[in-house]
Amino acid sequence: MKKLYLLVVVLIVVPLLLAGCGGGSDKPGSGKLEIFSWWTAGGEADGLAEMFKIYSGKYPDVEVINATVAGGAGTNAKAVLATRMGADDPPDSFQVHAGHELIDSWVKADKMEPLTSIFKDNGWMDKYPQGVIDILSYNGEIWSVPVNIHRSNVLWYNTKVFADNGLTVPTSFDEFFDVANRLIAADITPLALGDNGIWAATHLFESVLLGTMGPEKYKGLWAGTTDWNGPEVKQALETMAKILGYVNRDHAALSWDQAAQYVADGAAAMTIMGDWAEGYFKSKNMTPNVEFGWTPSPATAGTFIMLSDSFGLPKNAKDRANALAWLTVCGSKEGQDAFNPKKGSIPARTDGDRALYDAYLQSAMDDFGSNAIVPSLAHGAAAAEGWVTAFNDAMTLFVTNLDVAAAQTAMAKACVDAGVCK
Ligand code: GAL
Repeated sequence: MKKLYLLVVVLIVVPLLLAGCGGGSDKPGSGKLEIFSWWTAGGEADGLAEMFKIYSGKYPDVEVINATVAGGAGTNAKAVLATRMGADDPPDSFQVHAGHELIDSWVKADKMEPLTSIFKDNGWMDKYPQGVIDILSYNGEIWSVPVNIHRSNVLWYNTKVFADNGLTVPTSFDEFFDVANRLIAADITPLALGDNGIWAATHLFESVLLGTMGPEKYKGLWAGTTDWNGPEVKQALETMAKILGYVNRDHAALSWDQAAQYVADGAAAMTIMGDWAEGYFKSKNMTPNVEFGWTPSPATAGTFIMLSDSFGLPKNAKDRANALAWLTVCGSKEGQDAFNPKKGSIPARTDGDRALYDAYLQSAMDDFGSNAIVPSLAHGAAAAEGWVTAFNDAMTLFVTNLDVAAAQTAMAKACVDAGVCK
């Protein structure tokens, strides 16, 4: 009798209890899936929805929870995530930038599960560029699944505004200021900036740094081999101060997509933003090379500031099996070819179907294959989160006081505090 009772407990009660624990099953297909990101704007939200569509097609009985926290570059989301991770209440999977953000913030803190086996089991090891695998790796394991490659150093412009005013697309800082002066004379805001949360100013400045010193010295900034107290950083800050004289006055109140909308409306002529702006323009039914055009940000042709969004598996995910199935969609060709054309990014995989990508994205694919690739600071690829925060703090002061010397000192100190500069 006792044995029979035990058998009942093992066969019936235990599975019931496990199921009640929120999908603790080791097979995907029931319960919930909570996906955490900051993708709420046009383009980025549309791309995410495409991946959810694929997931729900495969696992119709899973309730997908789209846990977004608005705020470009994860300004607000990252704080919410940190609180949840600290309270051992992780989402099932979350958006995280490949590189320092992933490794320094979460992997070294022992908060993630390794994902090398997903790559091996799905035959992905040779489907991703080695450079991408490298920035996802630490201690011999891969720690997240990349969904895309974004480019940071892009200048977007309103084609009609340029045509109406007889303007040529600028490729150097001199040409940029020449065009900007003509736009001022025509009463049009030259450059749209939406730097609430400050990151978009840092984003703009990383392009200015690259355009001022070129890729080798730019890379050296994050490796401690380019002097933060040197003449190029000073020159970049002076150029940045000058550029800030040509942006919309309400920049501190706007988000990146509101700034992009100024360009869409023709209220501003240009914006320097990552290619999620491409996804945004397309979500507003604009067509590349028709209503909007693009070029590398001034003096950065031939170089590509890259960043990559990825998804990871936190330890103690409540719906682990569903999360693994999600990561399999994220890393698949099908998932990436559905997500990226809307997102305004190119696939992280090398076998994306080029025909699905528009003229801008095809040019990004070509440039990613041929340009000098350097990492983005504003988006977690170049430096650890603490350094990015210190840098953003320096930018917050700089955009209001334009004090070049003070900003340079603060940036040099941030490198020392990060343990990278002496
Ligand atoms: C970046 C992210 C992009 C896009 C952008 C604006 O940090 O990598 O995918 O979401 O923020 O939200």
